[in-house]
Amino acid sequence: MSFKTKDVVLSQTRPTTLLLQKHADYLASYGLNKDDFEYCMTEYLRMSGIYWSLTAMELMDQSSRMPKDDIIEFISLCQDSESGGISASNGHDPHMLYTLSAVQVLAMYDRLDAINIDGVVKFVASLQQDDGSFFGDKWGEVDTRFSFCAVMTLSLLHRLDAINVNRAVDFVLSCMNFDGGFGSKPGSESHAGLIYCCVGTLSICKRMDALKVDELAWWLCERQLPSGGLNGRPEKLPDLCYSWWVMASLSMLNRIHWVDQEKLEQYILACQDSETGGFSDRPGDITDPFHTLFGLAGLSLLGNSSIKQVNPTYCMPQETIDRLRLEPQILL
Ligand code: FPP
Ligand code: ZN
Repeated sequence: MSFKTKDVVLSQTRPTTLLLQKHADYLASYGLNKDDFEYCMTEYLRMSGIYWSLTAMELMDQSSRMPKDDIIEFISLCQDSESGGISASNGHDPHMLYTLSAVQVLAMYDRLDAINIDGVVKFVASLQQDDGSFFGDKWGEVDTRFSFCAVMTLSLLHRLDAINVNRAVDFVLSCMNFDGGFGSKPGSESHAGLIYCCVGTLSICKRMDALKVDELAWWLCERQLPSGGLNGRPEKLPDLCYSWWVMASLSMLNRIHWVDQEKLEQYILACQDSETGGFSDRPGDITDPFHTLFGLAGLSLLGNSSIKQVNPTYCMPQETIDRLRLEPQILL
């Protein structure tokens, strides 16, 4: 019995060129009206929203349109003086995800002095468990995405020595599956988002030698569908953010030529909204800053010359990674 492939069809009238200025205008005005329904409903992830928008604006060389002083003040207000962790918004609980986003934003602004760095280091280190895994926060959920957030945050602060890196790597490797992929914890199915997190962890910890490179790259390039878009697991619809999770992983493995790059570029461009600006998960859906970042970052990996070079491990401008003298491992 054969299965029908889940996919979308790109329409003849889809955008086929990069609408860069529309995206910059969309992000510059996003959140200007604080009573906007969507803006209110996304308060629980505000810190990551700032990271997505600022990184996208940096890649378009238009970050001067973001309210820098307000952002830096907001971040310092979100640091919890007791745990040292940073929350999504003022009055929320600190969490590994938002601590990473805050540190990424401050690293881009070269303003890491705006927070208590020792506090952040203490928070991240306190969440490592005996088996090397990390909790996301005090409530104790374990997930390989938190391992990645932990090592990325500490590496941006040049403080990886505060955790047991060998155990962190061992835990991530214990999540490797027979297909070369990784899931959220030992025994969980391979998932492209978590593969990015695990390969990213090994890239920062310089342990890419532990990967089953050919099996993993094969699983990743099989995510491409006839539309050119990529899905995150077999039998799922394409989603633009997987252009990042899959292509950044393939970049670290030095295998982006294993996908049809022209077809992927057409899919990414088709996810633009020519009226509102911004990118969505699939052509015709509503745009948001998350997919806008991953659309632009995906095009950057594909070599689009009107977008700045993005670093595949950190999802930040390469110039920031160079300024911080970070050298995540990429396979040759
Ligand atoms: C899909 O999640 C995506 C992931 C699991 C990866 C998340 C990665 C991080 C949080 C690390 C920080 C990221 C960057 C770019 C620095 P999902 O729950 O939406 O999966 P689904 O598509 O299966 O629902
Ligand atoms: Zn998505």
